[in-house]
Amino acid sequence: MQRDATPAFENLAVVRARIAERLSECERTLAVMSGKGGVGKSFVAVHLALALARRGVRVGLLDADLNSPSVAKMLGLRGQPLRATASGLRPILGPLGIAVQSMDFFLQGTQPLDWDGPAGEGSGLRSALEESALADLLGATEWGVLDALLIDLAPGPDRLTALLHLLPALSGAIAVTIPTEVSLLAVERSVRRAYEAGVAMLGVVENLASSVCSQCGAEGPLFREASTDAIAAQLDLAVLARIPFDAGAAAAADAGRPLADAADGVFDKLAEEAMQRATRGAAR
Ligand SMILES: Nc1ncnc2c1ncn2[C@@H]1O[C@H](COP(=O)(O)OP(=O)(O)OP(=O)(O)O)[C@@H](O)[C@H]1O
Ligand SMILES: [Mg+2]
Repeated sequence: MQRDATPAFENLAVVRARIAERLSECERTLAVMSGKGGVGKSFVAVHLALALARRGVRVGLLDADLNSPSVAKMLGLRGQPLRATASGLRPILGPLGIAVQSMDFFLQGTQPLDWDGPAGEGSGLRSALEESALADLLGATEWGVLDALLIDLAPGPDRLTALLHLLPALSGAIAVTIPTEVSLLAVERSVRRAYEAGVAMLGVVENLASSVCSQCGAEGPLFREASTDAIAAQLDLAVLARIPFDAGAAAAADAGRPLADAADGVFDKLAEEAMQRATRGAAR
Protein backbone atom coordinates (compact mmCIF):
# COMPACT_ATOMS: atom_id res chain seq x y z
CA MET A 1 0.00 0.00 0.00
CA GLN A 2 1.41 3.39 -1.00
CA ARG A 3 1.29 5.96 1.77
CA ASP A 4 2.58 9.50 1.92
CA ALA A 5 0.46 11.07 4.65
CA THR A 6 -0.33 10.32 8.30
CA PRO A 7 0.92 10.02 11.00
CA ALA A 8 -1.75 12.55 11.64
CA PHE A 9 -0.05 15.85 11.35
CA GLU A 10 3.28 15.40 9.64
CA ASN A 11 4.55 14.21 6.33
CA LEU A 12 5.30 10.51 6.64
CA ALA A 13 8.67 10.85 4.95
CA VAL A 14 9.78 13.33 7.63
CA VAL A 15 8.56 11.04 10.40
CA ARG A 16 10.28 8.02 8.87
CA ALA A 17 13.53 9.94 8.46
CA ARG A 18 13.46 10.94 12.12
CA ILE A 19 12.85 7.35 13.22
CA ALA A 20 15.58 6.08 10.89
CA GLU A 21 18.00 8.55 12.45
CA ARG A 22 17.04 7.42 15.96
CA LEU A 23 17.55 3.79 14.97
CA SER A 24 20.72 4.37 12.98
CA GLU A 25 22.78 2.56 15.62
CA CYS A 26 20.28 -0.25 16.10
CA GLU A 27 21.42 -3.45 14.43
CA ARG A 28 18.10 -5.33 14.35
CA THR A 29 14.42 -4.63 14.87
CA LEU A 30 12.23 -7.56 15.82
CA ALA A 31 8.46 -7.46 16.23
CA VAL A 32 6.58 -9.76 18.58
CA MET A 33 3.11 -10.06 17.12
CA SER A 34 -0.10 -12.04 17.07
CA GLY A 35 -3.46 -11.62 15.51
CA LYS A 36 -4.86 -12.68 18.86
CA GLY A 37 -5.04 -10.81 22.14
CA GLY A 38 -3.97 -12.19 25.49
CA VAL A 39 -1.85 -15.06 24.16
CA GLY A 40 1.38 -13.94 25.84
CA LYS A 41 3.03 -11.50 23.40
CA SER A 42 4.23 -9.21 26.17
CA PHE A 43 5.26 -12.15 28.38
CA VAL A 44 7.32 -13.51 25.49
CA ALA A 45 8.75 -10.10 24.55
CA VAL A 46 9.83 -9.34 28.12
CA HIS A 47 11.41 -12.75 28.77
CA LEU A 48 13.04 -12.78 25.35
CA ALA A 49 14.51 -9.33 26.06
CA LEU A 50 15.88 -10.60 29.37
CA ALA A 51 17.30 -13.75 27.79
CA LEU A 52 18.98 -11.67 25.08
CA ALA A 53 20.39 -9.23 27.63
CA ARG A 54 21.79 -12.15 29.65
CA ARG A 55 23.67 -13.21 26.52
CA GLY A 56 25.29 -9.79 26.37
CA VAL A 57 23.01 -8.47 23.62
CA ARG A 58 22.26 -4.75 23.96
CA VAL A 59 18.47 -4.77 23.93
CA GLY A 60 15.77 -2.16 23.58
CA LEU A 61 12.12 -2.94 24.19
CA LEU A 62 9.38 -0.77 22.75
CA ASP A 63 5.92 -1.38 24.12
CA ALA A 64 3.86 -0.62 21.02
CA ASP A 65 0.59 -1.42 22.77
CA LEU A 66 -0.51 2.14 23.46
CA ASN A 67 -3.91 1.35 24.94
CA SER A 68 -2.92 -1.50 27.24
CA PRO A 69 0.81 -1.25 27.84
CA SER A 70 2.13 -4.06 30.05
CA VAL A 71 5.90 -4.15 29.58
CA ALA A 72 6.61 -1.54 32.28
CA LYS A 73 4.46 -3.48 34.75
CA MET A 74 6.15 -6.79 33.99
CA LEU A 75 9.61 -5.24 34.35
CA GLY A 76 8.77 -3.34 37.54
CA LEU A 77 9.27 0.05 35.88
CA ARG A 78 5.87 1.69 36.29
CA GLY A 79 6.04 5.23 37.60
CA GLN A 80 9.65 5.78 36.58
CA PRO A 81 10.07 9.41 35.57
CA LEU A 82 10.94 10.06 31.94
CA ARG A 83 14.01 12.15 31.38
CA ALA A 84 14.00 14.57 28.47
CA THR A 85 17.21 16.07 27.15
CA ALA A 86 17.59 18.78 24.53
CA SER A 87 17.85 16.07 21.89
CA GLY A 88 15.14 13.66 22.96
CA LEU A 89 13.75 11.28 25.54
CA ARG A 90 15.97 8.89 27.42
CA PRO A 91 14.54 5.38 27.47
CA ILE A 92 13.96 3.96 30.94
CA LEU A 93 16.70 1.50 31.82
CA GLY A 94 15.26 -1.78 33.04
CA PRO A 95 16.91 -4.91 34.44
CA LEU A 96 20.20 -5.87 32.74
CA GLY A 97 20.24 -2.46 31.06
CA ILE A 98 17.26 -3.09 28.77
CA ALA A 99 16.23 0.25 27.23
CA VAL A 100 12.45 0.49 27.58
CA GLN A 101 9.94 2.91 26.11
CA SER A 102 6.20 2.69 26.69
CA MET A 103 3.08 4.82 26.74
CA ASP A 104 2.82 3.68 30.36
CA PHE A 105 5.48 6.23 31.32
CA PHE A 106 3.30 9.04 29.97
CA LEU A 107 0.15 8.04 31.84
CA GLN A 108 -0.67 8.84 35.45
CA GLY A 109 -1.47 5.83 37.65
CA THR A 110 -4.14 3.72 35.98
CA GLN A 111 -5.40 6.57 33.84
CA PRO A 112 -6.65 5.11 30.54
CA LEU A 113 -5.46 6.55 27.28
CA ASP A 114 -8.27 8.69 25.85
CA TRP A 115 -8.04 9.25 22.13
CA ASP A 116 -11.45 10.87 21.96
CA GLY A 117 -10.98 13.91 24.19
CA PRO A 118 -13.69 15.13 26.57
CA ALA A 119 -16.17 15.87 23.76
CA GLY A 120 -15.34 12.80 21.70
CA GLU A 121 -13.92 15.00 18.98
CA GLY A 122 -10.91 12.80 18.30
CA SER A 123 -12.69 9.58 17.45
CA GLY A 124 -12.60 10.00 13.68
CA LEU A 125 -8.85 10.37 13.81
CA ARG A 126 -8.13 7.50 16.11
CA SER A 127 -6.03 5.35 13.81
CA ALA A 128 -4.03 8.35 12.62
CA LEU A 129 -3.52 9.49 16.19
CA GLU A 130 -2.44 6.03 17.28
CA GLU A 131 0.04 5.78 14.46
CA SER A 132 1.28 9.26 15.24
CA ALA A 133 1.77 8.40 18.91
CA LEU A 134 3.68 5.25 17.99
CA ALA A 135 5.82 7.32 15.64
CA ASP A 136 6.53 9.70 18.51
CA LEU A 137 7.54 6.89 20.87
CA LEU A 138 9.92 5.53 18.25
CA GLY A 139 11.22 8.84 16.96
CA ALA A 140 11.55 10.87 20.16
CA THR A 141 13.48 8.22 22.07
CA GLU A 142 17.27 8.24 22.14
CA TRP A 143 17.68 4.53 21.55
CA GLY A 144 21.44 4.73 21.19
CA VAL A 145 23.54 1.69 20.33
CA LEU A 146 21.46 -1.48 20.32
CA ASP A 147 22.02 -4.95 18.96
CA ALA A 148 18.28 -5.55 18.91
CA LEU A 149 15.12 -3.53 19.42
CA LEU A 150 12.17 -5.74 20.32
CA ILE A 151 8.75 -4.28 19.58
CA ASP A 152 5.84 -5.71 21.55
CA LEU A 153 2.77 -5.16 19.37
CA ALA A 154 -0.86 -4.76 20.34
CA PRO A 155 -3.17 -7.55 19.17
CA GLY A 156 -4.63 -7.46 15.68
CA PRO A 157 -3.55 -8.36 12.16
CA ASP A 158 -3.01 -4.76 11.07
CA ARG A 159 -0.58 -3.75 13.83
CA LEU A 160 2.47 -5.01 12.03
CA THR A 161 1.68 -3.17 8.80
CA ALA A 162 1.10 0.07 10.73
CA LEU A 163 4.56 -0.38 12.22
CA LEU A 164 6.11 -1.05 8.82
CA HIS A 165 4.97 2.36 7.60
CA LEU A 166 7.20 3.89 10.25
CA LEU A 167 10.33 1.74 10.36
CA PRO A 168 13.26 2.01 7.98
CA ALA A 169 13.55 -1.79 8.14
CA LEU A 170 12.20 -4.69 10.10
CA SER A 171 14.61 -7.59 10.56
CA GLY A 172 11.84 -10.03 11.34
CA ALA A 173 8.74 -10.88 13.30
CA ILE A 174 7.85 -13.61 15.77
CA ALA A 175 4.23 -14.71 15.96
CA VAL A 176 2.86 -15.85 19.31
CA THR A 177 -0.05 -18.22 19.61
CA ILE A 178 -1.61 -20.56 22.10
CA PRO A 179 -2.54 -24.06 20.94
CA THR A 180 -6.24 -23.46 20.31
CA GLU A 181 -7.94 -23.35 16.92
CA VAL A 182 -9.38 -19.93 17.80
CA SER A 183 -5.93 -18.46 18.38
CA LEU A 184 -4.37 -20.24 15.42
CA LEU A 185 -7.00 -18.86 13.05
CA ALA A 186 -6.22 -15.29 14.11
CA VAL A 187 -2.49 -15.93 13.97
CA GLU A 188 -2.76 -17.47 10.51
CA ARG A 189 -4.54 -14.35 9.26
CA SER A 190 -1.94 -12.03 10.72
CA VAL A 191 0.97 -14.09 9.38
CA ARG A 192 -0.55 -14.12 5.89
CA ARG A 193 -0.90 -10.35 6.12
CA ALA A 194 2.73 -10.09 7.22
CA TYR A 195 3.87 -12.15 4.25
CA GLU A 196 1.86 -9.93 1.90
CA ALA A 197 3.72 -6.96 3.38
CA GLY A 198 7.08 -8.65 2.75
CA VAL A 199 7.91 -9.29 6.38
CA ALA A 200 10.50 -11.94 7.21
CA MET A 201 8.71 -14.20 9.67
CA LEU A 202 11.26 -15.75 12.01
CA GLY A 203 8.78 -18.29 13.28
CA VAL A 204 6.00 -18.97 15.71
CA VAL A 205 6.13 -19.38 19.47
CA GLU A 206 3.55 -21.69 20.99
CA ASN A 207 2.75 -20.31 24.42
CA LEU A 208 0.87 -22.20 27.13
CA ALA A 209 1.90 -25.36 25.32
CA SER A 210 1.80 -27.48 28.46
CA SER A 211 1.40 -27.42 32.20
CA VAL A 212 2.55 -29.42 35.17
CA CYS A 213 -0.13 -31.02 37.35
CA SER A 214 0.09 -29.55 40.85
CA GLN A 215 -1.11 -32.89 42.30
CA CYS A 216 1.06 -35.48 40.57
CA GLY A 217 3.77 -33.40 38.86
CA ALA A 218 3.04 -34.89 35.44
CA GLU A 219 3.42 -32.58 32.45
CA GLY A 220 0.60 -32.53 29.93
CA PRO A 221 -1.18 -30.28 27.45
CA LEU A 222 -3.14 -27.36 28.88
CA PHE A 223 -5.60 -27.27 26.01
CA ARG A 224 -6.97 -30.03 23.84
CA GLU A 225 -4.47 -30.73 21.08
CA ALA A 226 -4.63 -28.06 18.41
CA SER A 227 -2.68 -28.02 15.20
CA THR A 228 0.11 -25.49 15.76
CA ASP A 229 2.50 -27.73 13.84
CA ALA A 230 0.10 -28.12 10.92
CA ILE A 231 -0.54 -24.38 10.63
CA ALA A 232 3.16 -23.67 10.99
CA ALA A 233 3.94 -26.13 8.20
CA GLN A 234 1.24 -24.63 5.98
CA LEU A 235 2.68 -21.17 6.53
CA ASP A 236 6.27 -22.37 6.17
CA LEU A 237 6.99 -21.20 9.71
CA ALA A 238 9.44 -22.72 12.17
CA VAL A 239 8.10 -23.45 15.65
CA LEU A 240 10.78 -21.54 17.58
CA ALA A 241 9.72 -22.50 21.09
CA ARG A 242 7.01 -24.18 23.11
CA ILE A 243 6.49 -22.38 26.36
CA PRO A 244 4.77 -24.14 29.26
CA PHE A 245 2.38 -22.43 31.65
CA ASP A 246 4.59 -21.28 34.50
CA ALA A 247 2.61 -20.08 37.53
CA GLY A 248 5.75 -18.79 39.23
CA ALA A 249 6.70 -16.75 36.19
CA ALA A 250 3.19 -15.27 35.99
CA ALA A 251 3.39 -14.20 39.65
CA ALA A 252 6.89 -12.81 39.13
CA ALA A 253 5.76 -10.80 36.08
CA ASP A 254 2.84 -9.47 38.13
CA ALA A 255 5.31 -8.39 40.80
CA GLY A 256 7.56 -6.71 38.23
CA ARG A 257 10.42 -9.11 38.92
CA PRO A 258 10.41 -11.50 35.95
CA LEU A 259 12.25 -14.77 36.46
CA ALA A 260 15.54 -15.40 34.70
CA ASP A 261 14.70 -19.07 34.30
CA ALA A 262 10.99 -18.65 33.45
CA ALA A 263 9.41 -21.58 31.66
CA ASP A 264 12.33 -23.94 32.29
CA GLY A 265 14.86 -21.81 30.44
CA VAL A 266 13.02 -22.05 27.10
CA PHE A 267 13.70 -18.37 26.47
CA ASP A 268 17.46 -18.90 26.26
CA LYS A 269 16.99 -21.16 23.27
CA LEU A 270 14.45 -18.74 21.79
CA ALA A 271 16.96 -15.89 22.15
CA GLU A 272 19.60 -17.87 20.34
CA GLU A 273 17.19 -18.83 17.53
CA ALA A 274 15.87 -15.30 17.14
CA MET A 275 19.32 -13.76 16.87
CA GLN A 276 20.45 -16.36 14.37
CA ARG A 277 17.41 -15.86 12.17
CA ALA A 278 17.24 -12.09 12.28
CA THR A 279 19.58 -10.37 9.88
CA ARG A 280 19.61 -6.66 9.46
CA GLY A 281 17.02 -5.38 7.02
CA ALA A 282 15.93 -8.86 5.99
CA ALA A 283 12.49 -7.53 5.18
CA ARG A 284 11.63 -4.49 3.10
N1 LIG B 1 3.65 -19.17 29.73
C1 LIG B 1 3.05 -18.43 30.67
N2 LIG B 1 3.03 -18.86 31.96
C2 LIG B 1 2.40 -18.13 32.92
N3 LIG B 1 1.76 -16.96 32.69
C3 LIG B 1 1.75 -16.49 31.44
C4 LIG B 1 2.39 -17.19 30.37
N4 LIG B 1 2.19 -16.47 29.23
C5 LIG B 1 1.49 -15.39 29.59
N5 LIG B 1 1.24 -15.39 30.91
C6 LIG B 1 0.48 -14.38 31.66
O1 LIG B 1 -0.78 -14.25 31.01
C7 LIG B 1 -1.20 -12.88 30.99
C8 LIG B 1 -1.42 -12.42 29.54
O2 LIG B 1 -0.16 -12.41 28.89
P1 LIG B 1 0.32 -11.14 28.05
O3 LIG B 1 -0.07 -9.87 28.70
O4 LIG B 1 1.75 -11.35 27.74
O5 LIG B 1 -0.55 -11.36 26.73
P2 LIG B 1 -0.61 -10.41 25.43
O6 LIG B 1 -0.75 -11.31 24.26
O7 LIG B 1 0.54 -9.49 25.45
O8 LIG B 1 -1.95 -9.62 25.69
P3 LIG B 1 -2.47 -8.33 24.86
O9 LIG B 1 -3.08 -8.88 23.62
O10 LIG B 1 -3.45 -7.68 25.78
O11 LIG B 1 -1.26 -7.47 24.58
C9 LIG B 1 -0.11 -12.10 31.72
O12 LIG B 1 -0.51 -11.92 33.05
C10 LIG B 1 1.11 -13.00 31.62
O13 LIG B 1 2.03 -12.81 32.69
MG1 LIG C 1 0.61 -7.37 25.40
